[in-house]
Amino acid sequence: MTATLDISITKAESSKLQDLNLDNLPFGRYFSDHMLEADYEDGEWKNVEIKPYQPLILSPSLAALHYGQAIFEGIKAYRDRNGEAYIFRPHDNFRRFNISAERMQMPQVPEELFMDGMRQLIQLDKNWIPTREDHSLYIRPFMFSSDEMIGVRPSDNYKFMIILSPTGPYYVAPMRIYVEEKYVRASQGGVGYAKAAGNYGAAMLATAEAKKKGYDQVLWTDAHEHKYVQEIGTMNVFFIIGKTAITPDMEQGTILDGVTRQSSITLLKELGFAVEERPLNIDEIIAAYKAGSLLEVFGTGTAATITLIKELRYKNFVMEFDVDKWNTAPALKSWLTDIREGRREDKYGWMWRVG
Ligand code: COI
Repeated sequence: MTATLDISITKAESSKLQDLNLDNLPFGRYFSDHMLEADYEDGEWKNVEIKPYQPLILSPSLAALHYGQAIFEGIKAYRDRNGEAYIFRPHDNFRRFNISAERMQMPQVPEELFMDGMRQLIQLDKNWIPTREDHSLYIRPFMFSSDEMIGVRPSDNYKFMIILSPTGPYYVAPMRIYVEEKYVRASQGGVGYAKAAGNYGAAMLATAEAKKKGYDQVLWTDAHEHKYVQEIGTMNVFFIIGKTAITPDMEQGTILDGVTRQSSITLLKELGFAVEERPLNIDEIIAAYKAGSLLEVFGTGTAATITLIKELRYKNFVMEFDVDKWNTAPALKSWLTDIREGRREDKYGWMWRVG
């Protein structure tokens, strides 16, 4: 149980919900009626408030805007058939948030601020949780440095906030992926394992170039040889080779420790797969493709859930897949969706009841 936090709550005078069609939602464009805001000052968290969603007034010298001390999380809330609100594995995101904070020299956010703040915010905006299949309320906790100062050093002041966005699927169709060899997302000793805002900004040029070539996203490879695969866009990646599911390991600190990745590993084992978390060379993937044993490739992520990869291109070699014939990734996707939406037993205790 998370302690109850003393939060000052100001309710919105009217709700924007009636203006929104919850059945047709692009990812991350609409936001609920309320947001949570807290300040880190003089070494402690204070001014914890839930208030109507509104713009922030920030100084042009705000440190985060200049040096990028900014981190975030992505979590999803669902409503079951009885209308009860649940959040999928939020404690895992809480732990990862503070790992990111440590890497970026930012203060730790206490569990009661993160968890109980999120709970009270969702309780207030519970009606914003879409009930249509594959839809959810995307929860975006984030923190940024708020010193008004452009000297390069960790800030003394920070803001922690949570906003909520009712949302549909992030990637709607199977994807075409370009194996990246020029640009690098993460290298050993870097920030690849942190959910740091800059990781996403830094990925945009490579993604834009891949899009010009007709691809949806890039599959990142290691910084030294451009051979070992890392992750795709906003997702971890899995390769089903025969009866083994292989996903890159975390050892180098270059990959985000995805909550959907962890959940997929658990469910793949239940489906009878041997799961290997290890370095995976693109040559091994190509050899398996040529031998006919590379059966499925898919991405996992909170926003993306499970996304099928229908094409993978490395240099001039194109691997194409008939995703309509696949069993595993679709089974995994429905299994996870059914747990999240309350249609299947949650035997791992992944759903956290908002209450
Ligand atoms: C998430 O899955 O929560 C992500 O981080 C993706 C987001 C950057 C859109």
